[in-house]
Amino acid sequence: MPENLRVELGSRGYDIIVGERLLSKAGEYILPHIKTKSVIIVSDETVARFYLHRLTNALEEKQISSRSIIVKPGEGTKSLDSFSELLETLLEQKPDRHTTLIALGGGVIGDLTGFAASVLLRGVNFIQIPTTLLSQVDSSVGGKTGINSRYGKNLIGSFHQPLLVLADVTTLSTLPKRELLAGYAETVKYGFINDPGFFSWLEKNGAALLAGDTALMSEAIIKSCKAKAAIVAADEKEANIRALLNFGHTFGHALEAETGYGDTLLHGEAVAMGMIMAFKASVAMGICPQSELDRALAHYKATSLPASPGDIRKDWNIDHLMEHFTRDKKIADGKLTFILTRGIGKAFITQDVNKEQLRDTLALACAA
Ligand code: NAD
Ligand code: GLY
Repeated sequence: MPENLRVELGSRGYDIIVGERLLSKAGEYILPHIKTKSVIIVSDETVARFYLHRLTNALEEKQISSRSIIVKPGEGTKSLDSFSELLETLLEQKPDRHTTLIALGGGVIGDLTGFAASVLLRGVNFIQIPTTLLSQVDSSVGGKTGINSRYGKNLIGSFHQPLLVLADVTTLSTLPKRELLAGYAETVKYGFINDPGFFSWLEKNGAALLAGDTALMSEAIIKSCKAKAAIVAADEKEANIRALLNFGHTFGHALEAETGYGDTLLHGEAVAMGMIMAFKASVAMGICPQSELDRALAHYKATSLPASPGDIRKDWNIDHLMEHFTRDKKIADGKLTFILTRGIGKAFITQDVNKEQLRDTLALACAA
């Protein structure tokens, strides 16, 4: 049976439906949410090849007509150029204010489509159909949309909540193992932030889940979505506690920016490394016991999560990485906000970071 969760945001609240083979019933789920029986689907070439026909067939069963815009896969598509191209192509289709966009794909498609929906005709509705583990546990929920700039990741964007999130776990069967693992990093993040019980559950079940156990996968997605929905409901626009969801991201975004948003380092891989860097910085600052970092590292080893930037390249430029921090969105009044940790499930937000200590940690972590 599909699980139905609610993101409690008043008039902007919505359901997240998680289950198997949902795509073939998508028309049924989507129909109550749309104002005209015509939608525009945005997807990428890879996802479209696997799943577009399944979605369009399911929509047709409910007499919903659809047009599709297919973009290139990969992080490079979250660019200003691709965004302007998408908007022009959408306008070519003569949308009106009742048009609903459907994002069929991973986080790249969700972020790009959501951002387009937020500005097209000053805002139209959109629905998320996430097809990667990362997008099912994280990016499809919470309404953060956006694209990258040459100055950094997700620096251009908006908050625009979807009408519905339809997470079909069955679609993960075609996801390459590397992408699955990258999504697993954002799953582990919820344990690291504030749920030690979930981390223990992942220690027990993570390897089996990654080996393809769909029941465990569904359970992890539901637990993650519940955690994210609670944080988003409490702090939709990241005035305070939502920043915890960025655990490891300031470090990770700097690594991603340095590698040029390509195949060298996937977003989830950068987050995986970034979370270990946050643990290492916390240990170096004397606020987190070494044993907690060791426990995190043991789980990385057991599940093959990447922990070391040094495995990607040996010659990281520490000055460049520090420079990326200064462009981070979480900077306010010149002060950098970091998410550090006192141990597993004990992440906290602080502006009290010693830049020299940070630099030393970065140099050590990148050399490891
Ligand atoms: P992605 O969208 O690039 O998808 C990864 C790859 O998998 C792509 O090549 C895609 O074509 C392919 N793919 C997708 N679904 C597939 C399937 N079912 N079978 C086979 N191949 C499939 O990457 P992602 O990891 O899903 O998302 C990363 C993006 O999400 C980053 O840009 C990141 O910044 C963003 N993000 C956003 C939020 C948010 O709150 N908005 C949160 C976390 C991450
Ligand atoms: N992934 C960070 C957030 O949604 O806030």
